[in-house]
Amino acid sequence: MTTPEFVSADPDSHAALRAATAAVVEALARTASLPGPRTPLLPAELAALADALDPCPDEGAPLERVLQDVDGVLAGGIRVPDAGYVAHLHPPPLIAAAASELAVAVTNQSQDAFDGSPAGTYVEDRLVRWLARLHGLGAEGSGVMTMGGTASNLLGLLLARDRAGEHVRRDGLPPDHRTWRIVASDSSHDSVRRSAALLGLGLNAVAEVETDARGAMDVAALDARLEELRAAGLRPIAFVGTAGTTDLGAIDPLEALADRAQKLGAWLHVDAAVGSGLTLSPALRGRLRGIERADSVTCDLHKLWWQPFPASALLVPGVERLRAVHHASVYLNRPEDEAEGQLNLVGRSLDTSRRFDALKVLIALRATGRRRLAELVERCVGLAAHGAAAVRARPALELVAEPSTVMVCFRIRGEDALNTRVQRELFASGEAVLGRTRVRGAVVLKLTLVNPLIEPAQIDALLDRVVSASAAV
Ligand SMILES: Cc1ncc(COP(=O)(O)O)c(C=O)c1O
Repeated sequence: MTTPEFVSADPDSHAALRAATAAVVEALARTASLPGPRTPLLPAELAALADALDPCPDEGAPLERVLQDVDGVLAGGIRVPDAGYVAHLHPPPLIAAAASELAVAVTNQSQDAFDGSPAGTYVEDRLVRWLARLHGLGAEGSGVMTMGGTASNLLGLLLARDRAGEHVRRDGLPPDHRTWRIVASDSSHDSVRRSAALLGLGLNAVAEVETDARGAMDVAALDARLEELRAAGLRPIAFVGTAGTTDLGAIDPLEALADRAQKLGAWLHVDAAVGSGLTLSPALRGRLRGIERADSVTCDLHKLWWQPFPASALLVPGVERLRAVHHASVYLNRPEDEAEGQLNLVGRSLDTSRRFDALKVLIALRATGRRRLAELVERCVGLAAHGAAAVRARPALELVAEPSTVMVCFRIRGEDALNTRVQRELFASGEAVLGRTRVRGAVVLKLTLVNPLIEPAQIDALLDRVVSASAAV
């Protein structure tokens, strides 16, 4: 008997899926039990591992064997649950969400059209409405799931652009578009600038505002910049407030931004890719005050919500705001069906085929519960506070800024080159994967604390290791 290749009504296919899943779990357990955040393999060794794998041999092989063949690939990767992996905003995923990925994959429904995902359409709609309310966007709040913060920021800024001019969608950018500006801090995410370029406004359309010592937009600098723009005849069409910057985790003064956006009739987009998880915690949500006045909000569920990639949402106070991307397709969201009230999410999205990621999110949030999620967020914020204190307690290190959310940036006292070298050496040895970035031009090291499994003592040990490595250099 041949093993079924597809999951169907056939009970043999269910047995095959169980066996395949068990084999994958075995492979994951082998990898997860390896020590450290990564195995110290050189780029050439990793490339050789990949080269040894024929992507598509003429004849297939049993899954167990193929998984053994790729053991080296899994082992050569990053182990996000390890306390030594603090480089990026890549959290360990909740088991409930990771396991539910199987349901997303096996059912393989696409969220573009009602007839591609009838129940899923309503589940996603329910989820984004709940998220929008949680972010204070009101009873009419809604949104759409996207592939990540980059995609959510692009969509938010596209909505802003299309509101700035008449019929931009139909006619393209009007002649005066060269005067349009997107006001964002100098620490806003790269995707803000990339969006400006993609939207035809150009990189120069982003008017940067300086940040204060903690990395948040400085209100006096904002007002000075607005005055400069006014004097030069330039028009702010959108303000971007970052709720949790990528390096310092800083939260911009959202209320001040909302006031200025309102006064100038401009769009307010809040990039809460990092900070949206704070809305779960009654103790922390106040830090995002002003987010409720946004025209659009980026909420990344694959960061401080512990979902596997991809899981993000663009949230809006009313679904009509997404009308700017609505496109009537003859085969998906057929006008005659929509006239009868049929909901087709393709009308809210820049994608066509799209995963039913809302399912894994809903399952994982229901399984975990809001109280526990809030505890996890609070734990990570507490780890950052601990990390900052631990940096201060080590004379060889200096803290770059007080943490506002879950990042701690610090420097080894000395040259940029020393900081670079220590970070590279710890990566090469497989002991630790620290973030390395630049703040105000200087090289800094970063702890990104999105992993609630980390114990404070492990942060202490990691910082001690940084100090001893720098002494050895
Ligand atoms: C503040 C901020 N916005 C947006 C993004 C982009 O998110 P993604 O990587 O999900 O596209 C990031 C990524 O780290 C981020 O830090």
